[in-house]
Amino acid sequence: MERHDGMNFATRAIKAGEGGDPTTKALNTPIYETSTFVYENTRAFEQGIEDAMSWQPGACLYSRSTNPTTIALERKIASLEGAEDAAITACGMAAVNLALLSNLNAGDHVIASDDIFCCTRSSLEDILPSKGIEVDIVKVTDIKNIEEKIKPNTKVIYLEVLSNPRLELADIPSIADLAHKNGITLIVDNTFLSPYLLRPLEWGADMVVHSGTKYVVGHGDALCGLVSGTKKMVDRVRYYNDNLGTHISPFDSWLALRGVRTLPLRLKKQCENAMALAEYLEAKPEVEYVYYPGLKSHAQHDLASKLLKDGFGGMVSFHLKGGYEEMSTFVDSVQMMPIATSLGDVVTLIHPKHHEGDLIRLSVGCEDINDLIADLELGFAALKK
Ligand SMILES: Cc1ncc(COP(=O)(O)O)c(C=O)c1O
Repeated sequence: MERHDGMNFATRAIKAGEGGDPTTKALNTPIYETSTFVYENTRAFEQGIEDAMSWQPGACLYSRSTNPTTIALERKIASLEGAEDAAITACGMAAVNLALLSNLNAGDHVIASDDIFCCTRSSLEDILPSKGIEVDIVKVTDIKNIEEKIKPNTKVIYLEVLSNPRLELADIPSIADLAHKNGITLIVDNTFLSPYLLRPLEWGADMVVHSGTKYVVGHGDALCGLVSGTKKMVDRVRYYNDNLGTHISPFDSWLALRGVRTLPLRLKKQCENAMALAEYLEAKPEVEYVYYPGLKSHAQHDLASKLLKDGFGGMVSFHLKGGYEEMSTFVDSVQMMPIATSLGDVVTLIHPKHHEGDLIRLSVGCEDINDLIADLELGFAALKK
């Protein structure tokens, strides 16, 4: 394996964790489609079980625990996050839940953000409380709200760095400081920014999770979840991943490995397009409010300028003046942007959100900006009819 210490992010996105197949000399990491691994004798087999069950690096016994394609992805993600270790799961929700479960027991208390992905919300408001874990939901953009809820049994603060769907940015360094003064673990979901735009561990978070399905895979063709942190914390996640059966398939690991190599290239274009669309939308009289951390009007723009040195992300949300009728007329009139959930793909997706006060969320892709603007013009033209 080549060493990549000291190399820059874009180089590590391409090279870290990989280095040719030692057996066949294949340049690219093969897809190891195998459920199990063969040992030459009983003693070697026993050693293999011991190594795999104590999560020795590279030990492969059975693909529910580990698989060489997935190990390459683990190493690449750990390198990109600046983490000691990383585990890969079947999808983002597996990563979210394993991060929470591996840090919480019955009787513990977690403080979580109010603007959060709907399935994470179900976990926090329904599943965890039903297993005896106390949960308080607060607006984390004001740190006082978190401080007020801290109790002796508070073990975890959980939030999305850039929230879904209102794009509120959390002050990770200050929240990490508060958490650590009180012996609390800070777990953050950084799906909306990706490790290219922000590496929360560098700002004091203890564990970072992602729906890798989004920017990391980048092409909408695989599900994937990522959890990074210290080896001790990540091994605990591996234990849950193995025993709860939430492991990724080798093929999806391979698609994520292929996708993540172009993460910096894609994100650069997505940030550029998103900034242009946010400015374009803000100037439209039919638009009530645009949520984009790159805009001066964004409530945390100063914090965004401090934390996000390489761009403000590819997500733009906005409210049109009016309500459901205006939102649906607009969304149904654009032609190039598929109406779909999910985000982070090279293709721009439009997501009408009736339950969020008729908000429209754009996951901005890598298309030509003039084509994207021409498409949104169709929406504005329909509103005038
Ligand atoms: C912020 C965030 N976290 C987690 C998830 C869950 O990811 P997955 O769909 O890969 O399970 C999503 C999905 O949209 C998300 O937006």
